[in-house]
Amino acid sequence: MSTTITIRRPDDWHLHLRDGAMLRAVLPETARHFARAIIMPNLVPPVVTGAQAMAYRDRIMAALPEGMDFAPLMTLYLTEETDPDDVAACHASGLINAVKLYPAGATTNSASGVKNFDKVRPVLERMAEIGLPLCMHGEVTDHAVDIFDREAVFIDRVLDPIRRATPGLRVVMEHVTTSDAVEYVRSAPEDLAATITTHHLIINRNHILVGGIKPHYYCLPVAKRESHRLALRAAATSGDGRFFLGTDSAPHVDALKEHACGCAGCFTATNTLSILAHVFEEEGALDRLEGFTSLHGPAYYRLPVNETRITLTRGEDPVAYPAKIDGGDGPVTVFDPGFPLYWNVTA
Ligand code: DOR
Ligand code: ZN
Repeated sequence: MSTTITIRRPDDWHLHLRDGAMLRAVLPETARHFARAIIMPNLVPPVVTGAQAMAYRDRIMAALPEGMDFAPLMTLYLTEETDPDDVAACHASGLINAVKLYPAGATTNSASGVKNFDKVRPVLERMAEIGLPLCMHGEVTDHAVDIFDREAVFIDRVLDPIRRATPGLRVVMEHVTTSDAVEYVRSAPEDLAATITTHHLIINRNHILVGGIKPHYYCLPVAKRESHRLALRAAATSGDGRFFLGTDSAPHVDALKEHACGCAGCFTATNTLSILAHVFEEEGALDRLEGFTSLHGPAYYRLPVNETRITLTRGEDPVAYPAKIDGGDGPVTVFDPGFPLYWNVTA
């Protein structure tokens, strides 16, 4: 069994960095291992214009510790007022790499998201013309739909109609959690891709609810039953280029997670690569880890792959990760996979 593996430096195709003290706290956790990340725009207020994206990118670069090399790939938050010309100009200048669609009310800071999908049609049509990817939070918000069904229903009610109405639109279905989504992506042409998080490869809904409620395992889309987790593991380790890593690492201070109305999000930036190496080894697919973390994403986003490399080593003793990091405004709990991790990034 191999005990070291060297791969191109990974990228994270879905990341929450927040702002201010939290940004300064979590950015090094990602920049330590990742070259680039698609930065989610769900700040308060959201990043809706090119000017806001530029200012946010500057704040991220100002928060990057000396000596660390990291490139934030910016996104705009799609609203019903988004101007297609602003989107096209941001894309042409290289400022943004994607636009993010949150159905209004679907998740953290999504209140400014889209209620009426017809209203964003001109933006989507322009994006199809210029080849700019749309990152979608794929859950319906209809209260009549059970939370565990919201992703599958979104495919039928929203995603598929949008794709049919907008030929050529490049869509990333983000943080997929169901076998329905995996099957839908597999059956679609190459303009549709999906990101898979680290935590959805590890937990199913029992981990959240059995033996007491575990707020640090609560995220959106919520983890589903075991058969879905297994479908995600099969997709991630299959070598299929339409599936790639988007951690959705989403820090919230413990006080807001361990709360009567706890926030959604798992903070996985710190130990993601150790967890992924563990999963890929278990699946007999260590040779496909690089595709998932470092090759498929750049190919989809039409960006060069990273030229530098990292080495992961499997040690005799478990890697010691902190249970929490200092989030600036309070502690942030690092995702606990629930088993010891032996793979570590050593170079
Ligand atoms: O769990 C999540 N946390 N899912 C999301 O869609 C948003 C994210 C956040 O911003 O905290
Ligand atoms: Zn997210």
